[in-house]
Order: sequence, then structure tokens, then C-alpha cells
Amino acid sequence: MRTYIIAGNWKMNLGPTSAREFAASLLEQDAVRAALSTEHSVLVCPPFVSIQSAAEVCSGSGLHVGAQDCHAEPKGAYTGDVSATMLSELGCTWVIVGHSERRRDHHETNDVIGKKALAALKCGIRPIICVGESLEDRQRDATQQVVTEQLEQIARSIGADALQKCVIAYEPIWAIGTGLAASPEQAQEVHSWIRQTLSAHGGTSVPILYGGSVTDANAPDLFQQPDIDGALIGGASLNATSFAGIVQAALTLGAA
Ligand code: PGA
Repeated sequence: MRTYIIAGNWKMNLGPTSAREFAASLLEQDAVRAALSTEHSVLVCPPFVSIQSAAEVCSGSGLHVGAQDCHAEPKGAYTGDVSATMLSELGCTWVIVGHSERRRDHHETNDVIGKKALAALKCGIRPIICVGESLEDRQRDATQQVVTEQLEQIARSIGADALQKCVIAYEPIWAIGTGLAASPEQAQEVHSWIRQTLSAHGGTSVPILYGGSVTDANAPDLFQQPDIDGALIGGASLNATSFAGIVQAALTLGAA
């Protein structure tokens, strides 16, 4: 059976009360419930303040709860930040690091992202490391160079053992929140480069997710690609039916 990872990134949406209600509505979806007793991984990443209420609802269900970022240090004078240690105390088992919105708004470098991934792993939290090119990079034909550079810097800084425990999300910046997903062929091309780069650094069994305007409509075609192991989903993860539709695509293709 081919296994997929379906991760919802709620971004700055759903406070504690709505997160509780929404997590409960996800658990009412047949496809979500069905996937939870399989080898597929399904997870949601609420904002920090909503992690606890989502985790309470999801506890024991098999629907995992992750965070959208963590600090590289376990504690200290870092106003406004949250450590992986704290996330683990809340029941988080996954964390997104290096999302392009954090690279852009918080000036995160590949070096910092690598440190965050290591901090997460130390706490038993699986990092989803995001990479991806801008529209300008793509237009000047620099996609492979940009994505490879991001990956190589991170892979070198964390080492092969840590890399093997991570997940990579390829998220072309031009596809995030635009409704313009990469075509399955465009995504597959980059995923195969990523696979080669990961292998060269000892990451031979690292799942690679695609992110950027994934919906229940385009998920089946994306998931058929040999190197697409799941999705990191923003907008469509905020609609229970759409999210369940994406989970259903994983169920169907996983069983095929
Ligand atoms: P989107 O966001 O699905 O809304 O494009 C994806 C992401 O930023 O992870």
C-alpha cells in the first residue's frame, strides 16, 4: 500500500473555540475517520493558541496535531516565541518549519530552519521542512537551483540521520493561496529533483509533500505522481468537506 501524509496548515485562522469545533467536524468526516485507522498520516496545524483545544478533541482519535513553527532553543529570552519542548507538552507530534510566509515575514534562513528542525526532532516532533521557488525564480529558470540550494544547506546543517526523520514540503511560492496549483507534471519534475538531492545527502526515505492551492479536485492527479507523497494544504484545509476530499484521494490511491 502506498502511504500518504495529509497535513492541514490553518495559518492564522481559527481561535481556540472555533478550532475545537472545526477539529470535531473533521472527525465527523467519513474519509478522515477511515484514514485514521490506516498507515496514512492525517494532521492539522492550528495557530499556537488553538493547539491545546484541537489536541483535546483529537486525543486518541489518530488525527495528529502539529504546529506551524517552533523556536530553535528550548527556552530563554525570546519574546513571542514558542519552543518545541512546549509544543511537545501540548501533544504536538509534527511541526512545519521554514514556511515561505515565515521566510518572508520573519527573515528565516536555511540555517535557522535547520536548527528548528533539529530542536523539534530532539522533542520527538517530526518536522515538515518547506522549500520552494518564487515566481521570479521560475521565470528565470532557476527553480532547480533555488530549491536544491535550500535543501542542500538544510541537509548539510542537520546531517543524514536527522534528515531521514524529516518530511519535505515543496511549496512553489507562486502557487500558495493563489488558486494556481503547480500542474502534476511541474510538481513531479521538482519532486524528482528533490528526491535526488535528498538521496545524495542520505535522506533516502524522506516523504515529499506538495503544497500550493491543493484542493479535493486536483489532489487525485497530484497524488498519482510517483514522487508526491502527500500534501500540505492551506485554504482547503479550512473546509471540512474539501479536506476530507483530499484525504479520500489518498485513501483511493493508497489502495490502488
Ligand atoms: P494554500 O496554502 O493551500 O492555501 O495554497 C498552502 C500552504 O501555504 O501551506
